[in-house]
Amino acid sequence: MKHSSDRWAPAADAVDPQSIPRHRLSTGAHMPAIGLGTFGSDSVSAAAVAEAVRGAAAVGYRHFDCASVYGNQAEIGRALRDIRDGGVGRDELWITSKLWNDRHGEDDVIPDCRRTLADLQLDYLDLFLVHWPFPNHHPPGCDVSARNQSAQPYLHQSFLKTWRKMEQLVDLGLARLIGTSNMTIPKLAPLLDDARIRPAVNQMELHPHFQQPELFRFVLEHGIQPVGYSPIGSPGRPERDRTPEDTAPTEDAVIVKIARRLGVDPAVVCIQWAITRGQIPIPFSTRRSNYLANLQGAAAPPLTAADMRDIAAIDRNCRLIKGQVFLWKDGQSWEDLWDPDGRITPP
Ligand SMILES: NC(=O)c1ccc[n+]([C@@H]2O[C@H](COP(=O)([O-])OP(=O)(O)OC[C@H]3O[C@@H](n4cnc5c(N)ncnc54)[C@H](OP(=O)(O)O)[C@@H]3O)[C@@H](O)[C@H]2O)c1
Repeated sequence: MKHSSDRWAPAADAVDPQSIPRHRLSTGAHMPAIGLGTFGSDSVSAAAVAEAVRGAAAVGYRHFDCASVYGNQAEIGRALRDIRDGGVGRDELWITSKLWNDRHGEDDVIPDCRRTLADLQLDYLDLFLVHWPFPNHHPPGCDVSARNQSAQPYLHQSFLKTWRKMEQLVDLGLARLIGTSNMTIPKLAPLLDDARIRPAVNQMELHPHFQQPELFRFVLEHGIQPVGYSPIGSPGRPERDRTPEDTAPTEDAVIVKIARRLGVDPAVVCIQWAITRGQIPIPFSTRRSNYLANLQGAAAPPLTAADMRDIAAIDRNCRLIKGQVFLWKDGQSWEDLWDPDGRITPP
């Protein structure tokens, strides 16, 4: 039965959620082609992010990308409760969450997922991801030079133990689908060999200056849906995640030119590029005009083949979220996390 809520109602200028494309995943599930990111980059409060979730649902979003480490799931849970009390059915929503790096232990995965479900006020998640392949916790907001004294390298057999528990979450009905995030081809290939339940999704950084064409092709060829984080180039990311070499896709002349022609913000062109290419972007925003424009971009006609060719040519291989805090020994560079030699970087 549907209830009406005085805390949440659809907006008059909402995009019809039915007009947002959905991707049919290898499991037959239909995942909305855009979601709202919920990482406040240590600077946006949990209350502000939860308010954006309410506002985004009011303008037509049905997909929300959450994680325990974002520190705001209890507030988002209250927003999701309001949205459902306002008449949106659970089956109309797509909720993703993620296992944080200090919860990879065999006894930790299932309790962690149950905790996330309690916080989000849900009986099941549509998708639960292993947030990073490294079991190396670092406190939120720490400096990039911070290292966990007991940091571990990536070890396939250890990851597989975590994955077995992820598979059990599906058996228990706590997660409909499971997936990975921040993986490389050398790490994904053995997982695909050994998994009983294969990852349905791989979440990865994707924007016009970081297109990851090889990994993108690999996941598609293996029936894994790519989800693109930082789709606008993460202009609000914390200072610790910035280096002088970083570039901004929204300032690229090719993106700006297309934006002028279409009469939209360059950020929206980044979203349209993602949708046209076939990844699912999860832009973060707490500004109504921005998250509405991003959703309208997802419902707009695809970019032209010429636009797509022009954007393919501006890839700069510029990774913005480098992951330095997950390094496990002295003398390493952040590239080592990403298996630059085409094999898992040795311990
Ligand atoms: N799996 C992972 O390891 C991982 C890593 C990073 C991120 N993520 C997920 O991906 C989500 C998005 O990534 P992100 O937050 O790094 O970066 P992003 O979505 O590329 O950028 C967000 C920033 O762009 C601005 N923005 C959004 N729409 C805009 C528009 N139409 N015009 C102008 N500015 C706009 C937002 O500001 P306003 O609020 O002012 O609009 C915000 O500062 C996260 O929230 C999180 O859910 C996952």
